[in-house]
Amino acid sequence: MISTEYSGRCVLRLILVAAASAMVLILAIAVDTAFAQSNRSGFADGVVAADGSLRVPEGFRERYLMLGAWAVAGDADTDGKLGLHVVYAPGDAVTAYRKTGRFPDGTVLVKELFNGKTEDLTTGQATSAADVAGYFVMVKDGEGRFSGNPLWGDGWGWSFFAAGETKMTQTKDYVTDCLGCHEPARATDLVYDYAYPVLRK
Ligand code: HEC
Repeated sequence: MISTEYSGRCVLRLILVAAASAMVLILAIAVDTAFAQSNRSGFADGVVAADGSLRVPEGFRERYLMLGAWAVAGDADTDGKLGLHVVYAPGDAVTAYRKTGRFPDGTVLVKELFNGKTEDLTTGQATSAADVAGYFVMVKDGEGRFSGNPLWGDGWGWSFFAAGETKMTQTKDYVTDCLGCHEPARATDLVYDYAYPVLRK
């Protein structure tokens, strides 16, 4: 009797685990399908789903150009360790920017955050990119495609992704999560473009 009850519970647990796994799988497929559908429209390198959610573009390190990098002084959050911010954009967006001084509609900007590894090398004290700490993504939208969506506004889509997570953003509202810090760059369409040598003529 006890053993029947025990094995009954085991089976129930197995069914629950299977159901939970199936739900995760279905959710993953739904997210993939949404991005695949938007990919067909050709807007923004398939980075934007039909509902306006953003993802980190696949393979951006190999496919995009590196615009430049920031060495960021450590603070309490990083135990005083230096960080590196590396910024990327598609090559055709760079070509367009060099001609017109603006990023065209659909431009994807990625800022990859790295924890820095600082060591004494033959050049002196040097810091290189160690593990990834997260990703910021911006997508240029000149048409106000997703008005009312809190990830979109002021001419861009905005999202932050934690390290190892390229689809589910942690950003709830770009006005509170992003905009204040980008206001100083308002004159250059909210992008700190002066720091990216490849954009200079
Ligand atoms: C604490 C201030 C701060 C917040 C919050 C912030 N940013 Fe930034 N962001 C900056 C600064 C300053 C730079 C350039 C210097 C750097 O990276 O250290 C930058 C650079 C970027 C870049 C590279 C392109 C550029 O503008 O130079 C992207 C992409 C980006 N941010 C996206 C976002 C998104 C998306 C959010 C919200 C989810 C966000 N940022 C929130 C301050 C901030």
